[in-house]
Amino acid sequence: PYVVTDDCIRCKYTDCVEVCPVDCFYEGENMLVIHPDECIDCGVCEPECPAEAIVPDTDGRAEAWMQLNREYSAQWPNLTRKKDSLPDADEYKGVGDKYTKFFS
Ligand code: SF4
Ligand code: F3S
Repeated sequence: PYVVTDDCIRCKYTDCVEVCPVDCFYEGENMLVIHPDECIDCGVCEPECPAEAIVPDTDGRAEAWMQLNREYSAQWPNLTRKKDSLPDADEYKGVGDKYTKFFS
């Protein structure tokens, strides 16, 4: 499956949900996650994300975020339509290492 990394945090552009054929994105307050058992590995979401937050599980960045995607996709509500990004999305785009900076 594809995985949402911490590059989504405080951006949440939601362009990804609009293209997903199986609606497997789930929404938290600060980021989205992908349900790893529902994702069919089509890859269409990856280039849609302005923050380049989505990677395939073969990418080195994926492993650190797979468990978070699995855990929270079971708890957060499904999101199937694009909505406004978070207000400071452009400011937080690409800052890197966001989980450490904002949640630890
Ligand atoms: Fe949805 Fe395809 Fe992205 Fe998986 S890879 S989350 S199925 S758009
Ligand atoms: Fe997040 Fe990118 Fe989707 S910032 S909400 S993964 S378009």
